[in-house]
Order: sequence, then structure tokens, then C-alpha cells
Amino acid sequence: MSTGKTQIVHILGGPNLGRLGSRKPEIYGFTTWAEVSELCQGWAADLDLELVFDQTDGEGELVRMIHRAGDGAAGLILNAAAYTHTSVAVRDAVEAVSIPVIELHLTNPDAREPFRRQNLLADVVTAGIRGFGVQGYLMALEGLASMLTPAED
Ligand code: DQA
Repeated sequence: MSTGKTQIVHILGGPNLGRLGSRKPEIYGFTTWAEVSELCQGWAADLDLELVFDQTDGEGELVRMIHRAGDGAAGLILNAAAYTHTSVAVRDAVEAVSIPVIELHLTNPDAREPFRRQNLLADVVTAGIRGFGVQGYLMALEGLASMLTPAED
């Protein structure tokens, strides 16, 4: 039976996602990060989730944000952006938290430049969503909500 208690979920974005809307729109689309935030707040509310939505361009800050999610949230949706491909520190932070972490990419990095095929997160996250654009955030929130809600019998 559901407890009816609102669960807290964090959505974190890595470097350059704050430039969404103007950054290579032919690849990432015209939706701004602020608009993604608004959409996610609405989707989260519909799923009875409380949302913390944040972004940073810094590796250390992203590590700290992941720790904070681990301390206070029931789940994390993480688009680590370029740090996905380079950062042992972000990988270690994901491994250090015990909440479900959904890796999200707007694009499909495997279908882009070869250096994006290196992924330091894929084998330490709970699940991944890639290539669905902004709609991927709704899918990730729904997936996370279903993981967090105990099955009713
Ligand atoms: C990205 C894909 C990464 O390769 C890239 O560095 C980004 C965005 C995505 O959402 O598609 O900044 O994570």
C-alpha cells in the first residue's frame, strides 16, 4: 500500500546544459534549461514527487551535488554531460550514493563522435535514457517514480 508520502527526487545537469536553447540547437533543440526545469516541475508534481532541479558547469560542484542527492533524495536523474565521458570523480560519486541513479542524455552519445562512446557511468547507474530529447526527462521521472512506489497488492 502506498504511504502517500511525497518522495524527493533530484535532477542534476552537468556542464553546458545551462546553455540549452542556444547551444547547437540542431543537436539539442530550442528548449532552454529554464523551460526544462518548468516542464520537470510539472511532471514531478503529477507523479507526486518533490523535485530539486539544478545544474553546474564544475566537476567538483557536480560531485558535491550528487553527494547531497544521496543524503536527502530518494532518487537522482543525472545528465553529467561531458563528464560522462571523462570523470572518474563523478563515477565515484555515483558509486558512493545508495539511491537509484538514472543516467540521462538528450542525444544518443553512441551515435555521435567516437569520443562520446567512452562512458564512465553506464555500469554504475541503475538505468539509462538516451536520445529522446527533453521527453526523456518525463520518461526518467516516470521510471523513477515506479521504482520508488512500493507495489500495491
Ligand atoms: C549530453 C551528451 C554529452 O556527450 C554532451 O557532452 C553533453 C550533453 C546529452 O544530453 O546528450 O553535454 O549529455
